[in-house]
Amino acid sequence: MPEVKIAPSILSADFARLGEEVAAICDAGCDYVHVDVMDGHFVPNITIGPDVLKAIKPYTSRPLDVHLMIAPVDPYINAFAGAGADIITFHPESGPHPHRTAQAIRAAGCRVGVSLNPATPLATLDHMLDLVDLVLVMSVNPGFGGQSFISSQLEKISELRQLIDASGRDIELEVDGGVNRETAAQVIAAGANVLVAGTGTFKGGPSLYAENIAALREARQT
Ligand code: DX5
Ligand code: ZN
Repeated sequence: MPEVKIAPSILSADFARLGEEVAAICDAGCDYVHVDVMDGHFVPNITIGPDVLKAIKPYTSRPLDVHLMIAPVDPYINAFAGAGADIITFHPESGPHPHRTAQAIRAAGCRVGVSLNPATPLATLDHMLDLVDLVLVMSVNPGFGGQSFISSQLEKISELRQLIDASGRDIELEVDGGVNRETAAQVIAAGANVLVAGTGTFKGGPSLYAENIAALREARQT
């Protein structure tokens, strides 16, 4: 079983105190800081852009895991890379040339993530896997925090784990949406090694962040 990493989604943080919130989740033991970027076009919600990413960068030494839910995506890659992104994840549906997008992210000096919506098949990764460092399986439809986990994605996660192992490449398998203590156990058992958690990290306030993160990391099916 691979080591489990936790990537809190700052979508559930207190935006009025964002720097402190980022520092707090890092002190509480998170591995990545997951930043959800939404444009009100590719997804029905608007969040933050590169300037906010740049503003939070000094508050953490953990990698910034930037999840772009925007279309088009290519014109903004350099802005997010320049603002401090370490991993840039995009949705293949956000442009006509996903292979080119992956190349552009790598050329910008970032690790390449590809995100698969609940109805997007694994075959989308075919012929692109050599450029990919992380696959993000969406276990909700993207756009909002606090949604319920879609169980049909567990089968996809298991199949993806086999695909990654067979590739022999060091590719992270991240899962995003509705990850709580119960679903974390299922997701880990299916083969994920990075869990995104917004509600699951931030619920209860700063005094519980360390406990929440540890509980997700150690979640196991009984
Ligand atoms: C959804 C985002 C997720 C989401 C996670 O579009 O990509 O990162 O905010 O939130 P929870 O953990 O609350 O489902
Ligand atoms: Zn996300």
